[in-house]
Amino acid sequence: MFVKLCDKNTLTVGEPKAFKVKGHEVIAVNVGDKIFCLDARCTHAGAPLAESTLNEEVLTCPWHYSQFNITNGVALRGPAEKPLKTYSVEERENFVFIDL
Ligand code: FES
Repeated sequence: MFVKLCDKNTLTVGEPKAFKVKGHEVIAVNVGDKIFCLDARCTHAGAPLAESTLNEEVLTCPWHYSQFNITNGVALRGPAEKPLKTYSVEERENFVFIDL
């Protein structure tokens, strides 16, 4: 089920932003030509990934520096071992929708 997340213009390129939608905590990441959505908490110890840094497709956790690929959620570097859940994204006109 796709639900509206936000106006695309509220997402700054390269800056993850947190949202709560229907009980899910997610982040949206605007890489310029595409938007990705993932769970908002690190799978290691729950750090808020809205405070993570982004380098191309790699998100780095602010607490212990685990790294995740934003396109598929795979943990690239520990201590996190589990992947982040990712959500399908659709852009309709200027709005971002995610599939919960
Ligand atoms: S909470 Fe993210 S690496 Fe520890």
